[in-house]
Amino acid sequence: MHLQISPSILSSDFANLERDCEEVAGSADWLHVDVMDNHFVPNLTLGLPVVEALLAKVSTPIDCHLMIEDPDRWAPAYAEAGAKSVTFHAEAAAAPVRLAREIRNLGARAGMGLRPATSIDSVADIIPELDMVLIMTVEPGFGGQSFIDAMLPKIQRTRELIGPESDIWLQVDGGIHSGTIELAAEAGANVFVAGSAVYATDDPVAAIDSLRAQAQASTCLR
Ligand code: DX5
Ligand code: ZN
Repeated sequence: MHLQISPSILSSDFANLERDCEEVAGSADWLHVDVMDNHFVPNLTLGLPVVEALLAKVSTPIDCHLMIEDPDRWAPAYAEAGAKSVTFHAEAAAAPVRLAREIRNLGARAGMGLRPATSIDSVADIIPELDMVLIMTVEPGFGGQSFIDAMLPKIQRTRELIGPESDIWLQVDGGIHSGTIELAAEAGANVFVAGSAVYATDDPVAAIDSLRAQAQASTCLR
């Protein structure tokens, strides 16, 4: 299965966002854009106007991670704007199936994220409605936190539910770096978000290449 690296621009230089996005073009599969509303998480980042500005400038497809309340109301606009993947949180969506269908009808992949305390079994029935399940491996809200090892059985369980050869992707986000990506890949993840491990280094492209090589060497998906 194709493994993908999605660098999180949360750890990039917001005063040089275009430069930092372009720097990884050609090596990153996606650009992971963390939208936070200071309600769903205790942090505030950026919203639709900045995503629209990036979409106009950047060639790498955008993977929007919406850490916001009321995604039923706000998420479709990101798909409409041209984000190729839009992920809302299970804990915030009132009608996740309806929302996922709406996102897909607007031409984007629909993802659903789970905070560490949310069980995958509680949402297992709606996985077929999704294009991606995001297992958060930290509490959402900030970059640079430590990977929560207790999420590994949840990643494994999610892979069991999705199956090995599925078009539904399994993304992990939070604390992914050279010391943890192999664990996540062995457990069944195939899309890896990395913020500080890419942008807090001298060479983001080399960091992406090295993470990809590690994931490929450790994947359970052959
Ligand atoms: C955190 C965000 C992540 C964050 C990851 O809530 O969803 O995407 O940028 O940062 P690292 O990779 O540094 O843990
Ligand atoms: Zn994220």
